[in-house]
Amino acid sequence: MTDHRTTRFHEKSREERIETIRSLAGLSDDDVEILKTEGGISFDEANHMVENVIGTFSFPLGIATNFTINGKDYLIPMVIEESSVIAAASKAAKIARKHGGFTMESDESYIIGQVQVVDVNVKSAIPKVLKASQKILKLANSKSKTLSEMNKGAKKVTCKKIKTKSGTMLIVELLIDVGDAMGANVTNTMCEAVAPLIEELTGGRTILKILSNHSTKRLVRGRAVFDKEDVGGKEVVDNIIHAYNFAANDPYRAVTHNKGVMNGIIAVANSIGQDTRAIEAASHAFASKNGKYTSLTTWKKDKQGNLVGEIEVPMPVGIVGGIIKVHPIIGVCLKILGVKSAKELACVIGAVGLAQNFSAIRALASEGIQKGHMRLHAKNIAISAGVPKHKIHEVVSKMTQENNVSVTRAKEILKSSD
Ligand code: MEV
Repeated sequence: MTDHRTTRFHEKSREERIETIRSLAGLSDDDVEILKTEGGISFDEANHMVENVIGTFSFPLGIATNFTINGKDYLIPMVIEESSVIAAASKAAKIARKHGGFTMESDESYIIGQVQVVDVNVKSAIPKVLKASQKILKLANSKSKTLSEMNKGAKKVTCKKIKTKSGTMLIVELLIDVGDAMGANVTNTMCEAVAPLIEELTGGRTILKILSNHSTKRLVRGRAVFDKEDVGGKEVVDNIIHAYNFAANDPYRAVTHNKGVMNGIIAVANSIGQDTRAIEAASHAFASKNGKYTSLTTWKKDKQGNLVGEIEVPMPVGIVGGIIKVHPIIGVCLKILGVKSAKELACVIGAVGLAQNFSAIRALASEGIQKGHMRLHAKNIAISAGVPKHKIHEVVSKMTQENNVSVTRAKEILKSSD
C-alpha cells in the first residue's frame, strides 16, 4: 500500500520530485528556489551561525514516503550521507501502512535544569529550598513571558544530595515544560536566574547552572504492525525476533541495533536543524536506564503471527528557536513535514526510528544487509573511481553481478569498456 500521492517517487527526475512535493506541501516559488540552492545556505548566513567560517558543506536531502502516523500521511525530509537509509524507511512505512501505520504518543516537552550547590550543609538546605519553591518558580518563569503565557515554564523544584570526591553537593533541579522549543536556552537562562536566590537560601555556592540532556521526562513511544506476508513469511518474522533478542541481551549487538534506529532519527532531525548530539546522548543514556545497555525497540508477534515493533526513546526536539529561522532550508523542510507542535515532531521522528530499525533487522534476518546496500554503495565507489556519468550504470551492474565492489575493479571495468 504505497502512499498513492508519491507512487514511484524514486523513479522521478529531480524536477518531478520537487513538483510533487511542491503541490503536496503547498510550497511557494521561494521555497522551491531555496530547495534548489545547493545546500540551502549562503556564506553570510553560515558566517553568522558559527565562528571562523570558510565555507559551507552540503549533504543529500531526500524524502521518505509512505508514512502514516496517527492516521495522518507525512512526507519526511531526511538528511544523511548513507545510502539505503531513505529507501529503507520508505519501504518499512509502506509495509506498516497495511495495518494503519505508526501509532505514536509523546510526553510533554519537559526538561530538567540543574543548579549545582557546593560548600553547603545539604541536610539543612533542602527544606529551605523546597519551602521557597514557589518563589524560585516565579523567578524562573519571569525569564520567559512566552512560556508563562502558554501556562508552560518551570513547574517543580526538587533537590538531591550527591556524594563526590570533592565533597557532598546539593543539586537543585527545575522541571520545565519548554513547549514547542527544544528548550536548552530557556532552561539555562532560568537556572542562571535562580542561582543567586538558591545561594541566599542555602548559604552555599553555586557552580554549574545547565540543563540535563538526560531527557527521561520527554519520551516518545509507539508501535507498528508489519504484516507477516510482507515481512517475508513466518521464518523471517521469527528470525527478526531472534535478532531482537540478540540486541536485547548483548550490548555489543544493541549498540549496532540502536545505530540503525538512530540512522532514521538523526536523518530527520538533521533536516530540521535539531541538536542531534542532544538526541544521541539522551538516547544512549536511556538505553542503559536499567544498568545495562539494551535495545531501544522491542519486537514480538501478534496472535495472527504479524510482527509488532515498539519504540520508546527520549526526543528533545522543537519547532521554534535554535537555527530554525536562521537556516532557510529548515523552514522549507518543516513545511514539507507539516508538523504543528514539538510533540507531533517527536512522534514523527520516533516512527522513522522504528521504521529504520525494522528495515535493518529484516534485511539482516533474511538476505543480509550487503545485497541492497552494495548496489548503492557501488555507485559511490564508481564515482570515487572517476567513472564518468554515462558509464556509471554499466560499471555498477558489472561490479554487483560479480560481487566485487571496489575502486580497483571499477577502474578495470572502465578501462576495458573504452
Ligand atoms: C547500518 O548503518 C545500520 C545497521 O548496522 C543496523 C543494524 O545492524 O541493525 C544495519
